[in-house]
This record gives sequence, C-alpha cells and structure tokens, in this order.
Amino acid sequence: MESIFSLLSRHSVRKYLSTPVEEWRLDFLLKAAMQAPSAGNEMPWEFLVIDQRELLDRIPEVHPYAAMTRTAPLAILVCGDLQREKHKGFWTQDCSAATQNLLLAAHGMGLGAVWVGVHPMEDRIAGLRKLFAVPDHLVPFSLVPVGWPAENRTSPARYDPSRIKRNRF
Ligand SMILES: Cc1cc2nc3c(=O)[nH]c(=O)nc-3n(C[C@H](O)[C@H](O)[C@H](O)COP(=O)(O)O)c2cc1C
Repeated sequence: MESIFSLLSRHSVRKYLSTPVEEWRLDFLLKAAMQAPSAGNEMPWEFLVIDQRELLDRIPEVHPYAAMTRTAPLAILVCGDLQREKHKGFWTQDCSAATQNLLLAAHGMGLGAVWVGVHPMEDRIAGLRKLFAVPDHLVPFSLVPVGWPAENRTSPARYDPSRIKRNRF
C-alpha cells in the first residue's frame, strides 16, 4: 500500500549524484516498464540502457532539453517496435504506460528520474536514432535519465476537483 501513496510525491529529478545505480535496481526498473498495460497486450517496446559516460554526454547534442544526462549515471531509451503493433496507433499509449511505470518504479526506490520527450519530434528521433544506431523498425519514444537525486524538490499537489464531473458533462 505504501507504494500507492508514493505516486502522489513523484516528481521529476534532473540532477544526480555520481553514485552508480545497482544492477538489481536497473532490472527492477525494466521489469516495471514491461509490466505496463498495452493494447491487446501487444507490448510494442524495446529498451536501450545507456550507461557509457561518453554516450550520455553526447545526448544533449541531439536533444535540446536533455542536458541532465550529463550528470546521470544511466538513461533508458524507450523505443516503440512498430513490427509488434497489433492495434494500429496505440503504440504511443503503450510506450507512455511503460515510461510512467519506469518513473514510478524509480521514485518508489528513492531514485530520481525524468521523462524526456522524444516522439513525435522528428529531429530528436533522427538524432537519437543516429547516435544509438536504432534500427528502422524501432522509434525512439522517450528517454528516462535515472540516478540518485542531487536536488531536493517536490511537485505541488495537482488535484483539482473542478476537473471532475460525474455521469454527464
Ligand atoms: C511527454 C513529456 C515530455 C517531457 N519532456 C521533457 C523534456 O524534454 N525535458 C525535461 O526536462 N522534462 C520533460 N518532461 C517533464 C515535465 O517537464 C514534468 O513532468 C512536468 O513539468 C511536471 O513536473 P513533475 O514531473 O516534477 O511533476 C516531459 C514530460 C512529459 C510527460
């Protein structure tokens, strides 16, 4: 139950300590991502784990809002696999669910992470495809830098009852 309540304190973390993230935590993040729901259970995803310093440092060359990878010990590139798509058009929702699971799993373990948007920005897709030799049938969808937080911030509560209607608008 405790982890359910931690959903409400999730926030983006963009500065990280150099402390490495243990392999078992990385495994858990990837398990959480792959446990996401998907349309018809199509699971149209692949995950590229990036932990080479030189590559992490180069990501901001191809993504204007990814400077945080320069301090991240690790980033996960979530890619959509169009060959696995059974229900056309749903792959982005499936990959969103996987990305959110990654964020929540990281937060649940005390790690910091942030969703860095890639799809549908063509220049970011092309830049990341080139940098990481992503094959044609995969589309870079989102990037999730992960590390131990080096900043202490929170996000405000966003619950707004005026956004909720009951039975009819
Ligand atoms: C689709 C999407 C794309 C995002 N892209 C970026 C990004 O490129 N760079 C970044 O620093 N944060 C990015 N974010 C994180 C948002 O800025 C952040 O979630 C939002 O400001 C709310 O803050 P919080 O996550 O701390 O609650 C993105 C979030 C989403 C869902």
